[in-house]
This record gives sequence, C-alpha cells and structure tokens, in this order.
Amino acid sequence: MQVKVWSYLKEYLNEKDEVHEAIEQVLNSEVLILGENVKDFENEFSAYCQSKYGIGVNSATDAIFFALKALGVKPGDEIITVSNTAVPTVSAIAAIGAIPKFVDIEPTSFLMKVEQIVDIITPKTKGIIAVHLFGQCVEMDLLTEVAAKYNLFIIEDCAQSHGAQYKGRMAGSMSHISTFSFYPTKILGGYGDGGMMVTADSELVNKMKRLRFYGMEKTYYAIEHGYNSRLDELHAAILRKKLLHIDEYINNRRRIAKRYDEELKHTSLQLPNELPENKHAYYIYVVRHPDRNKIMEKLKEKNILLNISYPWPIHTMTGYEYLGYKVGDLPETEKAANEIFSLPMYPSLTFEEQSYVINTLNEILKSY
Ligand SMILES: Cc1ncc(COP(=O)(O)O)c(C=O)c1O
Repeated sequence: MQVKVWSYLKEYLNEKDEVHEAIEQVLNSEVLILGENVKDFENEFSAYCQSKYGIGVNSATDAIFFALKALGVKPGDEIITVSNTAVPTVSAIAAIGAIPKFVDIEPTSFLMKVEQIVDIITPKTKGIIAVHLFGQCVEMDLLTEVAAKYNLFIIEDCAQSHGAQYKGRMAGSMSHISTFSFYPTKILGGYGDGGMMVTADSELVNKMKRLRFYGMEKTYYAIEHGYNSRLDELHAAILRKKLLHIDEYINNRRRIAKRYDEELKHTSLQLPNELPENKHAYYIYVVRHPDRNKIMEKLKEKNILLNISYPWPIHTMTGYEYLGYKVGDLPETEKAANEIFSLPMYPSLTFEEQSYVINTLNEILKSY
C-alpha cells in the first residue's frame, strides 16, 4: 500500500457529478469572470466565516497583499508575524516594501507567542498578521488586547484554518481583514489557485475590489493604481459546491486526528495540542520527534510519503537575509523546524490507510 500525505482524487471521484455540473453551468452561462458565482460564493463563504463581505482573488498571497494595502501599509512600515509559516505570509509583506518582524512560537501548538509582540513594537509598527497555523487559531483575546493598546490592525491569515474556531468564533471573524486560500490542498480547496479577503468593514470593501481589478470600479477607468487578481467563475462555482460539504470535511479530519491521537499516544511522538479554547480544523496533523529524519526515511521505505511544514524558518532563508536575523534569534521556531513532520491528513483518507500509517509508525517507534 502507498499512502500520501495528501491526495484529492478520491474526493473528486465522490463529487464528480457536482463538480462537472458546476463547470457546465459556468461554460454555458457565457460569463467567465466576476459573475454571479463569484458574487454568491463571496456572500456564502463570508457568511460561513461569521463575517459580512468577501472579495474573491487569485490566491491568498494576493489576499494578504491587498489586505495590507487596503489598511494603508506603506514601504518601511513594520508588520509583526511569525517566521514559522508559509513563505507567502511574509512575501506579501515584502511585496509592499514593508518590513516583516518576527516573534517566536509556542513549542506545542506552534502558534505565535502573543506575549512577545510588545517587545518588538516600534513607532513604525502598523499591524500584526496572526497566522492560524495547521488549522488552529492564535490566542485572539490577548492579541486583540495588545493590538488595541498599541493601535495596530490585525489580519488573520486563515489559509490553513477554514472552519476553525476560537471560543466559538470562526477563524476569519476576529480581525479587520482575514485572508483565505483555496489552493487545492486547503480545507476548502479548489482545482487551481484561489483566495479571498473577508471583512466586516464596509469601508474596506470597495478599495479591495478596486485593487483586484486594475484600480477600476467601472471598466476602462482607473480611480487608482490596481492589479489583476480575480477568482475565476469556474473556481467559484466549484467552491460553492464544495462549501456545502465543508463541515463534513472538517468532521472527517477531526475523526482521523482523534484516531491518530488515540493510537499514537503511547509512542515518543509529540502529538498536536488542541488548545482548550479552540476547535482545531486539522488542516495538517503535525507531530514532533527529535529523530524526525530517520523516522521519515523508514516511513518512506514503507511507502508512506510525508511532508514537513516547514523545514526552514523564513528568517533563515537566503531570500530574507536582508531582514538581518540570524540563527538563534527565534529558538523555538528553529528547533521545531528540525523536528516536525505531518502525517497523512485529508477527509477521504480511508480507515485502512490510517491503520497502515498507525501500525507502521508504532512498529518503527518501538525502538525509540
Ligand atoms: C499560512 C499561509 N498563508 C498564505 C498562503 C498563500 O496561499 P496561496 O497559495 O493561495 O497564495 C498559504 C499557502 O500555502 C499558507 O499556508
């Protein structure tokens, strides 16, 4: 048997009729860009997030970039986030010419150490990007308090946390603007790139709509400088169908996580820590072990193909050398990058595949 960390094929085959119906509907409508499907999906998805407005774009990278622009970030401004995230969280800040500043992470949840934020606030700090990493939300009450005290905005980077909850509130409903990815692997993933900004602030909506559409409100007349980054009708139509299943996807993920928790709790792996105030959506199931590389090699020999999210902290990458960080600056982040790996996790992972992963891991870990 071969088990991959992620695969969409079984899910696609289960939902083939719905997906093809959506594609047919769009192709027959003769509206391929910014039509009813995008509008409806924006409304439906922002309502799902307990927010008000959605603005569909081409990717979450663009969504973060536009969110920062809409909130008035300028070159030289400082934005606080984490180095333990996907590169795009940081590249979107850099794309504006703003300066990413990093706090360290908590060693068991791998989320932002919120209490470190005050230590790195300067007069140039404009906002915070809270990354709800791996499917779990940052400590938002404390973060909101800090942000209010220092007059900073918050963007929630929800690329990995569709449907996650903090104290019963949905990821994406607790900040000025939140940003989502519909990249294929995501909890709500399409068959190509896609993203969305979600906000409850009506004053930001038109600005973000212009940014994705060459700076225009009406065609051929630019009010301001803008870009082209639109969610396609085809993707929106498919995502609307998939949104109907999102709770089922998350329940399946949670069921698989619970089984891993139960069946691996006696091993020397550090298992994910679902914080008491959170509902984890398990975008990925991240475990930790000091002998990570050897364990992964042995799993590969057994045809279990895993992934590391992420093997290199961003502040140690050559692309971000110019920020002036050095190894040792974010010890928990750096240590985690050497020890974490992700077990197979997607809603249609079969019971037999889960068993194969669990049994193989238990066998390998006997000698640790
Ligand atoms: C935390 C995080 N932020 C942002 C992004 C960027 O998403 P996209 O690929 O849609 O640009 C990703 C995707 O990998 C992500 O995981």
